Amino acid sequence: MKPKEMVYMTPLPVRIWHWLNAFGIVTLCVTGLQIRFPDYINVFGAYKAAIRLHNTAGMVVSISYLLWLTYYLVVARSLLKLYVPTRDDLKSGVFRQAYFYFRTYFLGKPNPHHSTPDHKFNPMQKAAYLVIMFILLPLVIVSGVLLMYVAPMREVLLLLGGIKMLVGAHFLLACCFTAFLFVHIYLATLGHTPLAHFKPMWNGWEEENVDDSVRDHTP
Ligand code: HEM
Repeated sequence: MKPKEMVYMTPLPVRIWHWLNAFGIVTLCVTGLQIRFPDYINVFGAYKAAIRLHNTAGMVVSISYLLWLTYYLVVARSLLKLYVPTRDDLKSGVFRQAYFYFRTYFLGKPNPHHSTPDHKFNPMQKAAYLVIMFILLPLVIVSGVLLMYVAPMREVLLLLGGIKMLVGAHFLLACCFTAFLFVHIYLATLGHTPLAHFKPMWNGWEEENVDDSVRDHTP
């Protein structure tokens, strides 16, 4: 049996944000499907009920996003260090990591990235989380708020090309989140056990093999 070391990887505010956000995004995707295709999908009964739930989930996601931003910017002050890829990450790191996920993982080879609380994310995670958290999530929040307040935001809507344009953009962003969710959850199961990366998102602690730490990683 290899000796184990417990590393405190995910602080409580990040965990609270993450699960509020995950629950909110999944609710948004399902209610959004009913709102977009009311003739084919009816999960929540009345159309109005789906809209009300969609708006509530949107508010939960927006508020929890502010919690995430405040925590990483003001309290932990590690937002840029954790989330922004370095030049090396982009030049070679992402390809090394992709090669691991597509090939060497299946040959039982070790993960090229070793997570520590200061370097939690591998280059692919950094790139994906950067796009999701700094571009797509703010865009989906802003477009959602505009669609919630169409009348008072009329001038802004016209400036952006009209309501149809905005609805189309909001829908495309939702498709990106749905695609991200599948990949994100699949990659999260590729730890040394399928639940190894879910545990630290629940209780904060990640289990590391001390003499084989390269194998323990976050996808
Ligand atoms: C049911 C849905 C979800 C599940 C089961 C899930 C699962 C996980 C797991 C296991 C981790 C830890 C391993 C890792 O860093 O990859 C994680 C981290 C993360 N997830 Fe998710 N996730 C979900 C939804 C989402 C959504 C919707 C977003 C963004 C819109 C998201 C963004 C993130 C971010 C940014 C991290 C890193 C957090 C940090 O440590 O700072 N997740 N997720």
